Amino acid sequence: MKKLILVLIGLLVLALGGGYSYVRFGLPNRAEPRAGKVDASPARVERGKYLFEVVAGCGDCHSVVDEKRFAMPVVPGGFAKGKQFPPAGEGVLVAPNLTPDPETGSGRWTDGQLIRAIREGIGHDGRPLFPGMPYTEYANMSDEDVESVVAYIRTIPPVSNRLPGSQITFPMNLIMRMVPAPVASVPAVNKADRVAYGAYLTKISGCQFCHTPFVKGQTVKEKLFGGGHEFEIAPGARAVSINLTPEPKTGIGTMSEAQFLDKFYQYKEYAEKGSPVIRPELNTVMPWLGLARMEPDDLKAIYAYLRTIPAVENAVVSHPDAPENKR
Ligand code: HEC
Ligand code: HEC
Repeated sequence: MKKLILVLIGLLVLALGGGYSYVRFGLPNRAEPRAGKVDASPARVERGKYLFEVVAGCGDCHSVVDEKRFAMPVVPGGFAKGKQFPPAGEGVLVAPNLTPDPETGSGRWTDGQLIRAIREGIGHDGRPLFPGMPYTEYANMSDEDVESVVAYIRTIPPVSNRLPGSQITFPMNLIMRMVPAPVASVPAVNKADRVAYGAYLTKISGCQFCHTPFVKGQTVKEKLFGGGHEFEIAPGARAVSINLTPEPKTGIGTMSEAQFLDKFYQYKEYAEKGSPVIRPELNTVMPWLGLARMEPDDLKAIYAYLRTIPAVENAVVSHPDAPENKR
C-alpha cells in the first residue's frame, strides 16, 4: 500500500513537472510573423488613425495620461510613447513605446511582428504578452483593419522614450504563457450588416470585455454585457461598468438610439478642449474622450447589436465609492 502511494506521488510529481516544463518551454503557442510590408495608402492610414485613437483605444494605454482629469486624457507630448503602470499584484507592467523611434520604439519591428503582437499576443522579441494588452479581443480584427493600424503607426512622429520591460510575477508569468494563439486570416465584416458590424466593433473596442462581469480573471460568458466589471481608479476608488443588455430595469432597454449617442457626444467638448480635474471616486476608465469621436454610424451599429443580445438582470452602481452613492 505504502509503495503504491509512493508510486502515485512519484507519478504526480512527474506529471506536474511535465506540465511545468510544457508551460515554461513548450508555450506560448507562437507562429512566425508574416513576411512583407503592408500596403499603406492614405485611406488606410486614416482608417488606422481612427482605429488607434478612437475605436481600439491603443492610445489610452500606450500614452502618458493625466489620471487626475476626467476619463484620463493624454498629456501634451505623451501620445503613443509608452508608459509604466503603477506596480500591481501581477508585477510591473509596461506598455511599450509604439512610436517608430528605432532605438526605443517600434521603428525596427517588422509589420508582421506588429500584427502578431496586436492579434496574437507575441511581442516582437517572441515573448508572450500579458493579456492586459487586449490581444484576445483584437484577435477579431480583420486583416484590413490590423494592416491599417500598422500603416498608421508608421506615420506617428517618433519619440525617444526608453522604458524597462514588463516584469510579471509568479504565477501570472506562467499562466499568461497559455493565452497567446495564432490567428489565421480574418475577413472584413460587411458594414452594411449593421448588427454584425456592431458586434465586431464591440469586440475590437473593448465594450464587450469591459462591460461583462469578470470573475477570477475570466469573462462570465453567460452574462455577456451584463456589466459589473470593476476597475480600480485609485485605492478605494472603483469604477464599475454598467449593464448594456436590453433589460429594461437594470440594463439599457429603455434607452433610445438618440439617448445612446448623446451619452458619447456629451463629451465632445472634453475630447477637443480637455477635461476637468475630478475626484478619483467619480473618475472612469470608460474611454469617453476617444469614443466621443466615434462616427455616428458606428455607434448606431453598436446600439443595433446591443438590442439583439439576451437581457441580463444585473443592477450596477457605476461609482460605488462616491459618498453620494454609498448606502
Ligand atoms: C488596456 C491597455 C492596452 C491597450 C488598449 C493596448 N495595449 Fe498594447 N500593450 C499593452 C501592454 C501592457 C503591453 C505590454 C505587455 C507585456 O509586456 O507583457 C502591450 C504591448 C503591445 C505591443 C508589443 C510590443 C513589443 O514589445 O513587441 C504592441 C505592438 C502593442 N501593444 C500595440 C497595441 C495596439 C496597436 C493597440 C490598439 C489596437 C494596443 N496595443 C492596445 C497595453 C495595451
Ligand atoms: C476600459 C473599460 C471600458 C471600455 C473599453 C468601455 N467601457 Fe463603457 N463603461 C465602463 C465603465 C467603468 C463605466 C461606468 C463609469 C462611467 O459611466 O464612466 C462605463 C459606462 C458606460 C455607459 C454608461 C453611460 C451613462 O452615463 O449611463 C455606456 C452607455 C457605455 N459605457 C457604453 C460603452 C460602449 C458602447 C463601449 C464600446 C464602444 C464601452 N462602453 C467601452 C468601462 C468601459
